[in-house]
Amino acid sequence: MLTAQDIKKKVGEQAAQFIRQGMTAGIGTGSTAYWLIMALGEKVKAGLDIRCVPTSTHTARLAREQGIPLAELNDVDSIDITIDGADEIDPQGNLIKGGGGALLQEKMVAAASRELVIIADHTKLVDHLGAFPLPVEVITFGWKQVQRFIEQRYGVSSQLRLKDGQPLLTDHGHYILDAHFNQIIDPAALNTALNTLPGVVDNGLFIGMATQFVIGYPDGTVKTLPASRPSTAE
Ligand code: 5RP
Repeated sequence: MLTAQDIKKKVGEQAAQFIRQGMTAGIGTGSTAYWLIMALGEKVKAGLDIRCVPTSTHTARLAREQGIPLAELNDVDSIDITIDGADEIDPQGNLIKGGGGALLQEKMVAAASRELVIIADHTKLVDHLGAFPLPVEVITFGWKQVQRFIEQRYGVSSQLRLKDGQPLLTDHGHYILDAHFNQIIDPAALNTALNTLPGVVDNGLFIGMATQFVIGYPDGTVKTLPASRPSTAE
């Protein structure tokens, strides 16, 4: 049986095959995307000519260390493919992302991409989104009003995300509220409703954005699944 790290490494390395000569690729953030970046670094050293749009400053640094050529989102017309991790994947292929705090840039890069390939281990496949706390990125001004609204409207508590005892500041200078929905009945409606709330910059629901899934299992199997209905069944 593979360890969790081994599974992440396997799916990250396998997904690196999707990025081919001459492509502009979005590269994700997190412990699974780490292995994608390592594999891409090797390929670049071996002659693969690509440019990558990073989804966070952390990913940008890692990629730079590996010698991967980078581009700003503003400097590309479109992105051929983005490969990124996820915190939860429902049977319709909707996602919760943002466990690493990079949801805003991740969603912008994904939105500019023709394909979004999600790399994850099988534990990320769920019947309903929401057991993983939904990250809601808010501006720092008046954030408690947003927290109060979420509590009143949905009966859901949320916590300001902290790092080393201080509010975590995202790459773009915002806070994150982690909202405990437990079970999200209508992810598309919630995504729209949250994003119309003054003070909300974006939230971690990715609705209908993923085009493919690369899912790893403890027995070493890696399955490539289409956009809809990734199954929780082994
Ligand atoms: C970062 C993300 C990550 O993709 C998500 O948290 C999954 O991370 P990991 O691969 O470490 O489980 O959305 O904002």
